[in-house]
Order: sequence, then structure tokens, then C-alpha cells
Amino acid sequence: PTIYAVTPTYWRHVQKAELTRISQTLRLVPNVHWIVVEDSETKTDLVRNLIAESGLVVTHLHAKTPPFEQLKDKDPRWKRHRGVEQRNAALKWLRSNLQVNKNNGIVYFMDDDNTYNVKVFEEMAKVKKVGVWPVGLVGGLNAETPILDEKSGKVKGYKSGWKADRPFAIDMAGFAINLDLILKSEASFSYKMEKGYQESEFLSYFIKKEELEPLADNCTKVYVWHTRTEKPVVNGVVPGLEV
Ligand code: UGA
Ligand code: MN
Repeated sequence: PTIYAVTPTYWRHVQKAELTRISQTLRLVPNVHWIVVEDSETKTDLVRNLIAESGLVVTHLHAKTPPFEQLKDKDPRWKRHRGVEQRNAALKWLRSNLQVNKNNGIVYFMDDDNTYNVKVFEEMAKVKKVGVWPVGLVGGLNAETPILDEKSGKVKGYKSGWKADRPFAIDMAGFAINLDLILKSEASFSYKMEKGYQESEFLSYFIKKEELEPLADNCTKVYVWHTRTEKPVVNGVVPGLEV
């Protein structure tokens, strides 16, 4: 299958560094189609140039987060949903440009700041409906993970340090969905959802907990980390030098 990796991204000093890291990870992945969605009024040259140099198959989109939903500098980061507008723009693109039973694909929401082992892409290539795996450094634990029933091997719950009782206590980086399921649905992300429930509500459109496909060696391996990059102190810029 082709992996459609959807990456929302927005301007800040570390943007180019983040996109460099993940685009070079994607270079190691066969059959990947990168959908980069800028949180901006227009597509920027920074992202355009980076994509051109990446050598990847890329669709470049933009969708600006409405001002009333934008995170203010002093707001705690959980106050607003992030990536909603951008992921919805990508879903719209998929539904307008690809066809059910024709394009064999898997959709993965790949934030620009996480750290991805190429093995996570090998795992998601096995997905029939929805595949799940542990995510490192999130939810107040060293890793969040689905808990499997010993007898059936199916998902019976979740280990998470934060609201483990959510219908799907899984970070955006911890699942991938069959493209046909996406194309046949109208599922989308929304600002109306309770904070931290984007993943859970989105997955509820497609599947029941017991139908999830546990991957990464029955959820015993961590192949993706929810890393966050420290905001650097930048008191000045060198003219003519794009960083
Ligand atoms: C966690 C989850 O891992 C995200 O997938 C989820 O969208 C987010 O919470 C949420 O609650 O909405 P977190 O690390 O807190 O992620 O979020 P960010 O990494 O800051 O943002 C997620 C994605 O949205 C990133 O790709 C980022 O570049 C993008 N983003 C963020 C924008 O496009 N615009 C923004 O103003 C902020
Ligand atoms: Mn993040």
C-alpha cells in the first residue's frame, strides 16, 4: 500500500529543523505520499523549497487555523486543539483525489515534531482496518500502549497516564487507518470535541475497540515518540540566512 502521511505544520523558528528531520525519515520509507498542510494564509517558500529538495512524492496544501482557535503565546498548550483545520484539509484532498477500491492506501497522521522509527511504517503497511501501537513519551508515562487481552490478543483497554478511560486512549501517532475506510466516511476533526478527545472521537467513526489490530509485536515495541522541541531563544536574525 501507499502510506499517506499527513503533516500539519506552522511557522516557528524550529519549523525547518522539524520538517528536515521527518522528511529525511520519510526518505527511508518505500511508497509514501507526504501530505504537508501549512497552517498559513498561503503556501510559504520555506516549505515549498524544503519539499522540492526532499525528493519525496508530496502534496502541499495550506489551511489556516481560524484566529479564535489559535493558541496564544501564554496559553497552556492543551487549551486549544491543534492541527484540526490542517488534517481536515488533508481528508478533503484524499476524498476528492482518490477512489475507493482503486487506491490501496493507509492514512497516518504524522505531526511535524515527533520522532519516527522507520519500522512504524513497516508496521502500518500491515493494517487492514485500523492498526495501533505504543507511543513513547506521552500521557504522563514513558509510553502509552493498548492493553491486550491475553487469551484473544485483542485490545481490551489502554495504559495511559491521562484519561485512560477514553474510548480510544491513543495519541495521533499511535494508529493508522485504511484509506478506503477514510474515503467511505465523512469523519473529520472538530473544535467542538472535548480537549484530548480528537483521536478518540475520530476513531469512533470507524471501529470498535475489539476490532483494532495490535501491531509492533503485539504492542510491545515503541517505534514512535511524542517528542517536543524546546522553543529556542532567538533575539535576532542574521540577514540573508534562512535557518
Ligand atoms: C498532541 C497530539 O499528539 C496531537 O496529534 C494533537 O493534535 C494535539 O495534542 C491536540 O491536542 O490537538 P501536541 O504535541 O500537544 O500534540 O501538539 P503539537 O505538536 O503542537 O501540534 C500537532 C500538529 O499540529 C503538529 O504537526 C503542529 O505542527 C501542528 N500545529 C500546531 C499547527 O499546524 N498549528 C498550530 O498552531 C499548532
Ligand atoms: Mn507535538
